[in-house]
Parts: sequence; structure tokens; C-alpha cells
Amino acid sequence: MPAGSDLRNALQYVRRFRNEIFIIALDGAVVAHDNFGNVLMDIAALQSLGIRVVLVHGIAHQLQAAAKELGVEISDIDGTGSVDMKTLKLARGCASRVSQEILDGLFATHQTRGAIPNAIKAKPAGVIGGKDRQYAGRVDRVDIEYLQMQLSHGAIPVISPVASDAGGLVYRLNSDEVAEQLGQALGAIKLLYLTCEAGLELNGEALRNISTEEMGKMLKTYRGSFSATILSKLEFSLQACQGRVRRAHIIDGRLDECIVDEVFSNEGIGTMIHANEYQNIRSATPSDVNFVWALVRPAMEKDELVRRPLQGIQESILDFFVFEIDGAILGCAALRRYDAHTGEIASLHVSPPHTNRAIGSRLVRFIEEKAREDGIKTVFCLSTQAYSFFQQKLGYIETDSASLPESRKASYEASGRNSKVLKKEL
Ligand SMILES: CC(C)(COP(=O)(O)OP(=O)(O)OC[C@H]1O[C@@H](n2cnc3c(N)ncnc32)[C@H](O)[C@@H]1OP(=O)(O)O)[C@@H](O)C(=O)NCCC(=O)NCCS
Repeated sequence: MPAGSDLRNALQYVRRFRNEIFIIALDGAVVAHDNFGNVLMDIAALQSLGIRVVLVHGIAHQLQAAAKELGVEISDIDGTGSVDMKTLKLARGCASRVSQEILDGLFATHQTRGAIPNAIKAKPAGVIGGKDRQYAGRVDRVDIEYLQMQLSHGAIPVISPVASDAGGLVYRLNSDEVAEQLGQALGAIKLLYLTCEAGLELNGEALRNISTEEMGKMLKTYRGSFSATILSKLEFSLQACQGRVRRAHIIDGRLDECIVDEVFSNEGIGTMIHANEYQNIRSATPSDVNFVWALVRPAMEKDELVRRPLQGIQESILDFFVFEIDGAILGCAALRRYDAHTGEIASLHVSPPHTNRAIGSRLVRFIEEKAREDGIKTVFCLSTQAYSFFQQKLGYIETDSASLPESRKASYEASGRNSKVLKKEL
């Protein structure tokens, strides 16, 4: 777990993730690695925090090792090529052994219960480009109810890349794809791919955080720069995040505490791929003044926001950001800069019929991101009625007016509103 000073930061994630589903995809090489015991400890930690974990594992490493040991020539390693009968037989043995090893490991780690469900129905991959894929399969259906039932009983389903079709024919699947399909079917908040490769780099720079748009462009231009293992994970992460999965992460599973460090810190240690949840947010322009005024005026009348004349909005409109859907402005907030390193999030408001749809928290996170890019290190927020929203949903802490910059203290005193003062270090 993170160091004490980071604990408060980690707690905001704990709250956000409780009862949410994480799909964790382990390459076979991760299961075989010396660090695997630590990976299991991280998984047990997630589960003890109320996160619902589904594990998917690969077998490429074990399959290659078994083929070498037995002197068998295999037709495919990862389920993406043509799988002949010999390869399928070996794959079935490897899949059972790896699943069992994970179950045993989970149980040995704080008695965490795992289960091997028969929750994936397969279908043949078929003939592609004139080539018969034989016993290579794809996911046909996920038994969502069955998995939910296991999760609600506190078990961790352990899913292998071997599954049968309705007629009982068995297929070898690609585990990265199985994980992505499970993520979509279960509406997972996170899909974590653990591999035995170093963090993702492009042109010597570590890629920590990338949107699906940027990832799509990057894959077009730099496809050849990635190993086959990483490329597969990038492509399935992209598909997942273009669908129902909120975030996908690619993590070096050889590092101690790799999962908790990635999930519970702002910086992370792997690469996070995210859908652009800020696509409805833009900077305000002078033509938005009347709409912003119409939005905030009722909140000023209720003393939720500090009173400002229309002229005040006109003069500061370029500090505002608006959340817009189909041309209608549903929310707004402003970033005021006190000095190079300090700012304030002000005039946050969401139109009442549209609250509780994450518009307010997205606006704040978006502005925090902008502030960070501008070199701002501390943001304040003054609120009379929504202070617990900032504390509980966005990790702000209460402070007192003495910590406000001098230039802001005077107007704080003069307003007489006695707002709570909150701040966050970015
Ligand atoms: C506070 C406000 C911006 C929240 O916007 P929103 O889009 O509804 O927020 P989100 O959808 O991101 O978050 C909703 C969550 O915050 C909680 N929440 C909303 N308003 C809250 C408040 N005033 N106090 C405490 N929690 C609040 C909701 O209960 C919900 O909790 P849940 O996720 O556990 O169900 C909005 O209610 C608003 O405009 N309030 C009036 C103006 C105001 O007070 N602005 C702040 C001044 S700086």
C-alpha cells in the first residue's frame, strides 16, 4: 500500500472503486515469474477493499515450455493463429495447471477464495484469409449472471483461455481478448493487463496516460515500434475503452506492488488508456455569457454561489469552462489564478435536472488537469453548501481562510459568506 502521506489520496480511490469490477489479465509469464506471490498479495488487497476482481490468465509461456520439454511442435502460441489438435491438447493441460496454481496461490494468500467457473461459451475463429484456424476460438457469450453470483459471494473467478462451444467442442482462445470481452460484458471500471515487459515507451519517453483518440493515432503511426505482446494489449485496451470499460492499464507484472501502485496513486507506474470523458467540456467564449449567467443566477439567489453581477461574468468569461451537450450548456466552472502556483475553482454549477451524472466532478477534474498543465500546484475552493462534495468525491481537504493568498483574503472577509475553505495539492 502507499506510504502514510499518500493514504488520504488512496482513500478517494478506495471509495470510488468499492463494489466495482476490475478484470485482471495475467500473462502466463507473470504467473511463472518470481514476483507472482506479490501480485497475488495485491489482488487479495483489492478484494479486501470491496473491489470485485475477475482474473483471466494466459498460457503462452507454459505452452512453449511444455512443447520444448516434450519435443512437440506447436502450431500457435497465443491463440491468434491456427491451432491444431496437438497444440490444443497441450494448451488444455497448461490451462488447467495454471488455473489451479492461481487458485492455490490465492488461497495461500490470506485465504482468498477463487473459483473456476464455466462462464465463457466459445465459437470457432473460423477460416480467415483462406486459412482455417482449426481449434482457435473466440468468445461467443459470457455468462454474466453466473459471474456476478460468484463475485457477490466474495469469490474471485479465475478464467482460462480454453473454452467450449454449445456442442462441447473445445477451443483455445487468446487471453487478452477474453479479458477485453469480459470487461465489456461486466461493465468493468478497469481492465489491467499484467505482462513481463518493461513500461511502455515511445521514442524514449514513458507513456503514462493516453486517451483512446491519441492511442488510435499512435497505433496507426508507430505500430511497428511495439512488441507483439504489447501491441495485442494496446489494441484490446483501445477496444475496451471505446466500449463499456472506463480505463485499461498495461503494467509490468515483475514489479513489487505493481497493481496497488498503479491503481492507488495519481502518477501510476504503468500505462493508462482512457476514453475521453472530457469531450463535452470546452473553454467558454464571450458568446456564452448569457447562458452561463442564466445557469448560475438561481444558485446565487440560493446563496450556493457568491453573487456576481452579469458584468462580472462578462469580464471573467474567459476563465470559465462549460459542459455542453448538443449545444446546451448544462454546467460551468471557472479557474481563477492568484499567482503562478495558486488558483481557485469557482462558480461550479450544474443545472439541477442534470445533477448526479458526473458533470460536476468531470468539470472539476478537467480544470485541475488544466491548472496542473499551467504549473498551478495548489487549488482552493470556497463553498457554503457543496464542501462535502469536494471532500468526499474529489479529495479536497478543509483548511482555514488564513491559508488563502493575501489577494483573496480581503474579498473573503468582505463577502461575509463564511464559506468553508478547501484546498487540494495538484
Ligand atoms: C455540487 C454540484 C456541482 C455537483 O454536481 P453533479 O454533477 O451533480 O456532481 P456529480 O454527478 O459529479 O457527483 C454526484 C455525487 O456528489 C454528491 N453531491 C452532489 N451535491 C452535493 C453536495 N452539495 N454535498 C455533498 N455531496 C453532494 C451526490 O450525492 C453524488 O453522490 P454519489 O456519487 O455518492 O451518488 C451541483 O450539485 C451543484 O451545482 N450544486 C449547486 C452549486 C454549488 O454548490 N456549487 C459549488 C460551489 S463552488
